[in-house]
Amino acid sequence: MRLVTLLPLSLLCSPALADVLGPRYPYPTDISSNSSRVLHSWRDLTAALDAQLAPNSTSELRNVTFSVGIFSLHDPNAAFNPAVQYHYTAPEVANSQYGIRRVNGDAVYRLASITKLITMYAGLLSLDSADWERPLTDFFPQLAEGSTSAGIAQSVQWDKITVMTLASHLGGVPRDAFGASENDIALVAKDPTALGLPPLSPDDPQARAVCNVLEDAACVFELDNYIAGLAPRPPTFLPWTSPGYSNNAYILLGQIFQSITGKEMEELYRDSIFGPLGMSTTTSVVPPESFFPHCVIPGDDLVSFASDLPILRSSGGVLSTLHDLSKMGMAILNNTLLSREETSRWMKPHTHTDRFQVSIGAPWEIFRHQDAATGIVVDMYCKSGDSGVASTWTCLLPDFEVGFNVLGASTSANRTALIGEVADGVVDAIVPSLLHQAALETQARFAGVYESTVEGLNSSLTLAVNTTYGAPPGMTIVSFISNSTSVTELVSPRLVPSIASPRTNQQAFRSINAVDIPSRQLGRLSDLSLLGWVSPGVVTYGNLDIDLFVFELDPAGRATAVNLPGFRASLVRVG
Ligand SMILES: *[C@@H]1O[C@H](CO)[C@@H](O)[C@H](O)[C@H]1NC(C)=O
Ligand SMILES: *[C@@H]1O[C@H](CO)[C@@H](O)[C@H](O)[C@H]1NC(C)=O
Ligand SMILES: *[C@@H]1O[C@H](CO)[C@@H](O)[C@H](O)[C@H]1NC(C)=O
Ligand SMILES: *[C@@H]1O[C@H](CO)[C@@H](O)[C@H](O)[C@H]1NC(C)=O
Ligand SMILES: *[C@@H]1O[C@H](CO)[C@@H](O)[C@H](O)[C@H]1NC(C)=O
Ligand SMILES: *[C@@H]1O[C@H](CO)[C@@H](O)[C@H](O)[C@H]1NC(C)=O
Ligand SMILES: *[C@@H]1O[C@H](CO)[C@@H](O)[C@H](O)[C@H]1NC(C)=O
Ligand SMILES: *[C@@H]1O[C@H](CO)[C@@H](O)[C@H](O)[C@H]1NC(C)=O
Repeated sequence: MRLVTLLPLSLLCSPALADVLGPRYPYPTDISSNSSRVLHSWRDLTAALDAQLAPNSTSELRNVTFSVGIFSLHDPNAAFNPAVQYHYTAPEVANSQYGIRRVNGDAVYRLASITKLITMYAGLLSLDSADWERPLTDFFPQLAEGSTSAGIAQSVQWDKITVMTLASHLGGVPRDAFGASENDIALVAKDPTALGLPPLSPDDPQARAVCNVLEDAACVFELDNYIAGLAPRPPTFLPWTSPGYSNNAYILLGQIFQSITGKEMEELYRDSIFGPLGMSTTTSVVPPESFFPHCVIPGDDLVSFASDLPILRSSGGVLSTLHDLSKMGMAILNNTLLSREETSRWMKPHTHTDRFQVSIGAPWEIFRHQDAATGIVVDMYCKSGDSGVASTWTCLLPDFEVGFNVLGASTSANRTALIGEVADGVVDAIVPSLLHQAALETQARFAGVYESTVEGLNSSLTLAVNTTYGAPPGMTIVSFISNSTSVTELVSPRLVPSIASPRTNQQAFRSINAVDIPSRQLGRLSDLSLLGWVSPGVVTYGNLDIDLFVFELDPAGRATAVNLPGFRASLVRVG
């Protein structure tokens, strides 16, 4: 039995089933024209939503106001094209005494916890790399006194938790501070003893919050009171062990960023993000009343809409629109403010969860979506929001350099699940069609015949893309002749994009081991040689990679030639 080998699998003739992480095709550029597969599937989604929202429908979605839209780096107008948006205004908003009467791409929604993503973005743009490793006790010395003799199971070790641990929900810090959430039974239960809980002594040092969110939110969210309510709470986990969602973490981050930059949160957002990106209707401060007619205010609930507690801004305070949020998503994908390297490092998981399909970043909620027909895994870097009457999603799909937003508001108790279903509907509509569209564009741009122009040298390459939806993804080598010899045994038959170089108008591909789509689970140690990521660049000729194909592109993005470094050859496209 062959125990250790990193030879290319085509030489071993064993089946290979996995791909490398990343796109299967170069990025699709047509998302919103009438000939785009994505627009077609968006129309199907629109029809499904229309039916669910028809006046005779009994769906409770009829009580949820929402705006949905897709955006793409390679079809920048899509973000502002109503053909790839959907807006629905529920009666409670249409007939509301306050706020907008009919939502559109400029309607202002509360983003709730999407704010945490914006806070992190602002932090990445403003902090030095060393700041992320500083312990919390640098910023909150009063918390150092709390780390006492109680033992690490009951007492948070604030000096062991760094700024980055907080950002990744890996600090193990309490989810909320005492008095700051209505989830404390002592605050909401009329008679806790009826629930089997003992009466709390007025002298109980743990439960002696000066004030609480139900009676005096302004008081509880005053920084000293907030920290006092936080200090005695036990940790959820030890730092860097298990993720635990924490609003408190992002409240503390806001305070830390303000202390490092010397700017109020709104000023920090404006200087680092909203201003540079032209997000002119985005703010973390409740706008003046004259602006309310642009805002989504369900159920005439002006009090909760207009509540503005500065300490909460970094965790859930931002208000924005579909259009503004799309600008931010495109800027993240385009490395407009943050460099390519910093962005790619940010858009990585920091930890798994207990599920294969969900990982956590800072504070990305990463969903590993599997396309039903092909088995292809498409990573979605998302952040959700859910608070008060708001339910929201923003997601980036780096494999296509596209993203989508779902902004919702409703007084319905089922708001969260209903908005989640709308977001799932978007995913189910766009992922298959993005794969299909990308295959079609790859065929037009790259498939065909490439030949040597060297007199008397019989070298050629023929490439095809099977655009049938569900076919193995990528481009396949139909024939590959080098100096009159077929060399298909030296390379693997499928090409996937590796590096795009817009400055030199080049697109590199790697031929990868996989001959099939990722149709089965791999996870046994003995599957190592079937995993795609272990073999790029493994076989070389005279020090240059045999599996590297670098295409030269014309200004329209169409391949004109291919360089084969390992073969010391360059072939020109002839058909
Ligand atoms: C796109 O299709 C829609 C609906 O079929 C039609 O109204 C519109 O004129 C078309 N636009 C173009 C540019 O062909
Ligand atoms: C609602 O009415 C439309 C026609 O207006 C009809 O096609 C549809 O079947 C009806 N749906 C329900 C649930 O009755
Ligand atoms: C919408 O909300 C109203 C008021 O709360 C309620 O009476 C109605 O049943 C809800 N409609 C649906 C379709 O759930
Ligand atoms: C992305 O950045 C490039 C290079 O800076 C720029 O030319 C392009 O317009 C940007 N695209 C979008 C959608 O912002
Ligand atoms: C809506 O919420 C109620 C409880 O608030 C629940 O009984 C009902 O099943 C939910 N409906 C849907 C469609 O989720
Ligand atoms: C393309 O893929 C489909 C689906 O896997 C398959 O049935 C068909 O034979 C393939 N076509 C070619 C030319 O390989
Ligand atoms: C082509 O092959 C012949 C031998 O068949 C060899 O002499 C020649 O150097 C080769 N040329 C190239 C460019 O590979
Ligand atoms: C090039 O080489 C291939 C493979 O040996 C052969 O089938 C083909 O006829 C050759 N073409 C020419 C023009 O010599």
